[in-house]
Amino acid sequence: MLVTVLLAVDLGVYPGQPTHVTGWSSATLISMADKTRRVALVTGASRGLGAAIAERLGTDGYAVAVNYARSEQGARAVVDRIGAAGGRAAAFRADVTDESGVTALVEAVRGELGPVDTLVLNATGPQPTTAAADLDWQVLLDQLSFFVKSPVLLLAAVLPDMVAAGRGRVIHIGSDVIERLPIGNSAYAAAKYAQLGLARIWAKELAPLGITVNTVAPGWVPVERHAAADPALLQRYVDGVPAGRFGTPEEIAAAVSFLAGDDSAFVVGARLTVNGGSTVG
Ligand SMILES: NC(=O)c1ccc[n+]([C@@H]2O[C@H](COP(=O)([O-])OP(=O)(O)OC[C@H]3O[C@@H](n4cnc5c(N)ncnc54)[C@H](OP(=O)(O)O)[C@@H]3O)[C@@H](O)[C@H]2O)c1
Repeated sequence: MLVTVLLAVDLGVYPGQPTHVTGWSSATLISMADKTRRVALVTGASRGLGAAIAERLGTDGYAVAVNYARSEQGARAVVDRIGAAGGRAAAFRADVTDESGVTALVEAVRGELGPVDTLVLNATGPQPTTAAADLDWQVLLDQLSFFVKSPVLLLAAVLPDMVAAGRGRVIHIGSDVIERLPIGNSAYAAAKYAQLGLARIWAKELAPLGITVNTVAPGWVPVERHAAADPALLQRYVDGVPAGRFGTPEEIAAAVSFLAGDDSAFVVGARLTVNGGSTVG
């Protein structure tokens, strides 16, 4: 039986937003099964790839923390879909580029669902196209905040619980942009390269502790934010995909599901590219 509750979660300040928000939790009748459920935190899970990843992990049996920054309605919808499918999830608003926000987020997840043992580093802000001539430090810093600062803050917050458990999964959502190298995307690509550097060295450092660190690198997967994309651009992209089509968010989520599970225990520091062969060469 599922009991749906509302809970008040104060995760501090997100610029321009109220400081007190209402989190949305589903399926909170605590049973023995719940106590042994793995807990996955998916950053930026109110829409796009993060929403599909959260829903897949919910189906896989994880208690899922659905993080979001602004889209409470989207996050609630994801939580509701996980609950309707028989899973357990709760939504947590927090700016994952902010140190105190991350600390409060991980504490709130621990209190509501349990210690995080599976961390999916997915959130992104806007990814503006910027010509080299117009690039400035702030443009780069905006990307580094999501793909370097945020992973560093989140790892620090979840690591003690993973070490105590002797098991953990850290899954970075990277990008095949570092191979495709589209003009005007240097800031985004530089940050994704940097994220991969973190992932690979963390993988070596944390493997002895039973914690695997891996990366899923999607190709272009149209999501809500691409709704207005130029059809000619979409077609040109597909023309370069050996599989002859776009990937789906669910296909990215399936790769995450594998890296989160026990079958991937010996997969350490891998970068799993999911792009229909676009960058095979
Ligand atoms: N889609 C693609 O084609 C593609 C391809 C390659 C790689 N990727 C990578 O996949 C990941 C997800 O991309 P996406 O296309 O699914 O993005 P998206 O649809 O734009 O979703 C971004 C998510 O991040 C959240 N977010 C934004 N700022 C945040 C903050 N400060 N703190 C916490 N959450 C925040 C958003 O929440 P709110 O809605 O609440 O703001 C939203 O849930 C990114 O790492 C991206 O680089 C995507």
